[in-house]
Amino acid sequence: MRLFAQYYNTMFTQSLGDDLILTRLSQTCQPGDQFLDLCCGSGRVLTFPLDHGVKAVGVDKDAEMLAEARHFLPARFDGRYQLLQRDALDLDFEGQFRVVTCVSHCMSFFRGAETIQRLLERVYRSMVAGGLFFIESYVPGKPENGYYRKLTFHVDGGDLTCTLQVSEESDPSDGSVVKVFTYDLEKDDRLEKEVYRVGEVFLTPIIEMAKQIGFQVEGVYGDSNATVPFDGTSETQSLLLKKM
Ligand SMILES: C[S@@+](CC[C@H](N)C(=O)[O-])C[C@H]1O[C@@H](n2cnc3c(N)ncnc32)[C@H](O)[C@@H]1O
Repeated sequence: MRLFAQYYNTMFTQSLGDDLILTRLSQTCQPGDQFLDLCCGSGRVLTFPLDHGVKAVGVDKDAEMLAEARHFLPARFDGRYQLLQRDALDLDFEGQFRVVTCVSHCMSFFRGAETIQRLLERVYRSMVAGGLFFIESYVPGKPENGYYRKLTFHVDGGDLTCTLQVSEESDPSDGSVVKVFTYDLEKDDRLEKEVYRVGEVFLTPIIEMAKQIGFQVEGVYGDSNATVPFDGTSETQSLLLKKM
């Protein structure tokens, strides 16, 4: 398994800072409700609804991340969650979920108006009336081109070093900015590179599309915990939508 998949939760669980909203969203669920996490990776978000007794589904297109999720989620959750390997854009649920999340900047994976429209429509269809959809992404322009960070973790009897560098390129199809997140990982004699290409997510067009589809905006926030009103100065932004 790739180092990134194996140690994603170790590297990021402490730093993502969305535990308050994930707890709050899990607590809005009533018996029988279900929770869907898009781009669930190695299962970090799913622990919140599962800890609150809520059934949960995680969707991710990466088989290794899902394999690590199976390993990461404790046995006490067995039988109460499902992990599906698929593209979130191919979601085909009907009226099933009380809460849908797409966090730790994963909304930025969906680039371009058509793609975002498709995602919003599929999510809307998958939800029950009154359901909540919470998304989080970086504010456009953040993190800045040239951003560099090196962290070391002590894992499995050795040091894991993770270096992140952010650069920019232009999407040849429409000239939009693509942020390239390059993670260089090193453990023992293994050296691996993981590259994520993400788009810049502007909330205004998403809000317009969401309203057309039938969502109501519950809040626009300047953090990943939905506690700080959005004023454009923060590094992250989040949006809480409700299916009417
Ligand atoms: C960095 S991880 C985030 C994990 C998780 N959301 C969390 O908060 O811990 C990003 C994940 O998004 C997944 N992903 C990206 N685009 C996707 C798509 N279109 N459909 C499903 N999964 C996707 C990747 O496979 C990867 O596992």
